Amino acid sequence: MDIDSIQNSLTTKWVGRRLFHFSSIGSTNQELLHLAASGVAEGTVVTADEQTAGRGRLSRVWHSPSEKNLYFSLLLRPCVHDPMQLATIPLLIGLAVAQELDGWIPATRTAVKWPNDVWVQGRKICGILCEMVPGKEGQPPAVIVGVGVNVNSDETIMPEPIRQTATSIFLERGRLVSREKVLVQLLQSMETMVEQWLRDGILPFLPALRERDCLYGEKIQMLLTGTPIQGTGAGIASDGGLLLRLPNGQQTTVYSGEASLIRHL
Ligand code: BTN
Repeated sequence: MDIDSIQNSLTTKWVGRRLFHFSSIGSTNQELLHLAASGVAEGTVVTADEQTAGRGRLSRVWHSPSEKNLYFSLLLRPCVHDPMQLATIPLLIGLAVAQELDGWIPATRTAVKWPNDVWVQGRKICGILCEMVPGKEGQPPAVIVGVGVNVNSDETIMPEPIRQTATSIFLERGRLVSREKVLVQLLQSMETMVEQWLRDGILPFLPALRERDCLYGEKIQMLLTGTPIQGTGAGIASDGGLLLRLPNGQQTTVYSGEASLIRHL
């Protein structure tokens, strides 16, 4: 990755002003967790051409082949009154990615899959893994926002389990694109959106999120810690939770877990 071109194109105030790049690393999230503990500034970004131990949600591995995709982590130290607001960071970042990817894949509309994926035509193109370290003595927490975007990968390098469920900008657009340019756009958009989110919370983003909510009206199975629950996606609540209409007609809100479309099971 051409780091000079990224730094020369970035017009952000604080996001990516410090950028650490690795040609190969275990996990950019893991690296940024270490850096955060040593006190690096908010907005610090770690990128890698390849991850050898890329982390996904629910202890899964994030397949991270060399020089194909984007693997990066952004450090936030958000000062918010309501700790519940922190749970909406993956949604906010997912929306930022979805909006930017629309520009790279003009023929289609990119969707947000609550709570932390971006999908195109029913396939996953981006995953987000937020990891948090509580702040000491009234300090804000460190939130490591890890983002993996499938940019130039194709089926030949996708491992079997994800070949049928994942896609990339290349596969949707039919042309290789510059990872640097995609990264610059994502970082710029994230800065603008995080600044507004710090002032106003998730509320101003709800209309855009609801418009892109690919679980709305779909029969889904939620995997929480215990028994899976089934229901129909009924939208995104004003606090960022997922509204679920249960088979008995009642509605509930869930705040964590993984949703699978029942037609995909
Ligand atoms: C998921 O969908 O399960 C989340 C995947 C998150 C992957 C990204 S790649 C950059 C960052 N570093 C990691 O180890 N994971 C995240």
